[in-house]
This record gives sequence, C-alpha cells and structure tokens, in this order.
Amino acid sequence: MKIVDSKVTTKRGEDFILRTPSRDDAEKVLAFRRDVAGETIYLTRYPYEIENSIEKEREILGNYYRADNLGMIGIFDNNRIIGITSVSPVGICFKMRHRASAELVVRKEYWNLGLGAHLLDQAIELAEICGYERLELSVYADNARALRLYKKKGFIECGQVPQAFKMMDGTYHDEILMSKNLWRY
Ligand SMILES: CC(C)(COP(=O)(O)OP(=O)(O)OC[C@H]1O[C@@H](n2cnc3c(N)ncnc32)[C@H](O)[C@@H]1OP(=O)(O)O)[C@@H](O)C(=O)NCCC(=O)NCCS
Repeated sequence: MKIVDSKVTTKRGEDFILRTPSRDDAEKVLAFRRDVAGETIYLTRYPYEIENSIEKEREILGNYYRADNLGMIGIFDNNRIIGITSVSPVGICFKMRHRASAELVVRKEYWNLGLGAHLLDQAIELAEICGYERLELSVYADNARALRLYKKKGFIECGQVPQAFKMMDGTYHDEILMSKNLWRY
C-alpha cells in the first residue's frame, strides 16, 4: 500500500520526508538494511545475511507498494534512508489474517530524535488502514529503548521466549512478544 508522502520534524528541528519506498529504491533499502544490521545487536540478521539481490528487493518493494495488506514507510534524508517501518500479515489464513507484524529500525546516528516514535505511530495507522485488528512486535528482552517506546505507544508484553536469539559469541538473548489492540471504541 502506498501512503501519502509526509514530513517529520525531529527534536533537533530537522525536517525529513516520509514516503513509501518504490522499486527504484531497492539499492537504498538494501544499503540501509546492511548498515543497520551492523550497528545494533537488536536485529534478527547479521549484515552478511542481508543477501537479497537488487532484483529480488525490487520485487519485494513492488509488493509492499501495491498490496492492500502490506505497507512500508521510509524516512529519507535527501537520498539516504535513515529509518524504516513496515507492516505485514502474521498469517494469511482466515484465523490469523487480522494480525499484523511490524518492524521498526532507525539508523544509529539518528536515534533519540523522536523518529522511532513517529515511525511507530505511522505503523499503527498503516495497520489500521490495512484493516488489521492487532499489531505485534518481537523485541530482544534487554532492548530497553525499544521496550520503552512500545509500552509508551500502548503495546503490552504477551510472552517471553527464553534464549530466542543465539549470538556468534555463544551468548543468548530472550525475546519478548508485544501486541497492541487496534480496535477503536
Ligand atoms: C528502537 C529504535 C527504533 C528507537 O528509535 P529512536 O529514533 O531512537 O526512538 P525515539 O527517539 O522516538 O525514542 C527513543 C526513546 O528511548 C529512550 N531511551 C534512550 N536510551 C534509552 C535507554 N538506554 N534505555 C531506555 N530508554 C532509552 C529515549 O529517552 C526515548 O524515549 P522518550 O521519547 O520517552 O524520551 C532505534 O533505537 C533502533 O532502530 N534500534 C535498533 C533496532 C531495534 O532495536 N529495533 C526494534 C526492534 S523490535
């Protein structure tokens, strides 16, 4: 689903553009994903595991652009992507298709400027527009920054998976599952 382009102003007063990445942004999206995977331990993949070809990424972005049950929003600092959120179904069978899963990532040099909070608001709105009833997130149990943000936006903890993530150094991190009800009363 394509969203209407908009603008966000950071806590430092800088303006950035929010828009749905198109097929033409495939290289930028891949560069973003590789960079952020190396900046934080709190993403699922290591940089070497970001291995989509540009053609494959174009196809994925095309799907996000067109499909009614998918959405992606990028924050652009000129031609560089500095944050991404996306919404996709947890499952496409009848019993699960009311649930969406979200991703949320901001480049480290732009943390603590309010961009994560703004993107999460956008993800919630996007999930509502797509017709989802719940929005879900998975977070490392020690990712205090993300947990604080999600709780502030009304997500509740609904389970913990022990040792869900195994790192290359042999250590483990638990995973917390979070969910937000999107019904409007
Ligand atoms: C989580 C993430 C998206 C937040 O983005 P951001 O742009 O820094 O978010 P914001 O600036 O809107 O908010 C950050 C909040 O964390 C708080 N914070 C900063 N450092 C913190 C810490 N060590 N512990 C707890 N909270 C912290 C800030 O004070 C701010 O809260 P406030 O607005 O109530 O003051 C970003 O850090 C990120 O991409 N991290 C790596 C990937 C990741 O963890 N993604 C989430 C996976 S589920």
